Amino acid sequence: MDFVHLLRYHLSLLRRSVCDLPQRRKAIGTMSLESEIHRGVASYYTQKIREHGATARGVDWNSEASQTLRFEQLLRVANGAAEFSLNEIGCGYGALVDHLRRGGSKFRYHGVDLSADMVAAAQVRHGEAPGVSFAVGAAPDAARDYCVASGIFNVRLETSDADWLSYVLATLDTMHQYSVLGFAFNALTLYSDADRMRPDLYYADPLRLFDHCKRFHSRNVALLHDYGLYEFTILVRKNVP
Ligand SMILES: C[S@@+](CC[C@H](N)C(=O)[O-])C[C@H]1O[C@@H](n2cnc3c(N)ncnc32)[C@H](O)[C@@H]1O
Repeated sequence: MDFVHLLRYHLSLLRRSVCDLPQRRKAIGTMSLESEIHRGVASYYTQKIREHGATARGVDWNSEASQTLRFEQLLRVANGAAEFSLNEIGCGYGALVDHLRRGGSKFRYHGVDLSADMVAAAQVRHGEAPGVSFAVGAAPDAARDYCVASGIFNVRLETSDADWLSYVLATLDTMHQYSVLGFAFNALTLYSDADRMRPDLYYADPLRLFDHCKRFHSRNVALLHDYGLYEFTILVRKNVP
């Protein structure tokens, strides 16, 4: 890129960063878009768990192996800490708690999900575990060390690209708000094969989400796009000097 192109590129980013936040707040500010999306998503996943039960298929993953691979990427945000507290947005039936237990670290966990059926399943499976809690909703009850989300940005149903992007960015702001040391999330990638893309799913531009996190949340952001799925994970670390 020559100097003029580079300058134009940076000016466009600057313009976007200045204009972006208020616009997004305005779009989401009415709450109607957000609650409409939440209703559609909750009903989609409620149907999944009713069909397939508390299994990877029940949260719309192809396999338990890919579900686990996603957890491994997300938990890299914690840098192998021996003890931490964690919020999960979109906890499903609580599979991350099983994964954390297998890992052997000491953790406190709070999971929220839009689907009451998901939360009921999670409570049956882990409700008695000390330091583990679940609630129906889209935001945690308090900030914890980390906040993670796996698979919450994929199913956009009939929402337009522009509205879904506003919704994703607003949700990232929520993850930022409810995490002290960092947050991590995944999304399907725009770099997917065109013939495999579905109109009801959202394929995010990894660079756009990276840019947002870098500008508004932390200087320390990692983009992982190297683990063999048609998606990426972003880690936002806030505890690095
Ligand atoms: C693909 S499933 C993954 C569940 C779990 N993270 C896992 O990997 O096993 C996504 C879950 O997130 C929930 N969800 C989607 N968007 C959400 C949001 N904005 N707030 C809370 N839950 C959400 C859905 O109801 C669904 O249970």
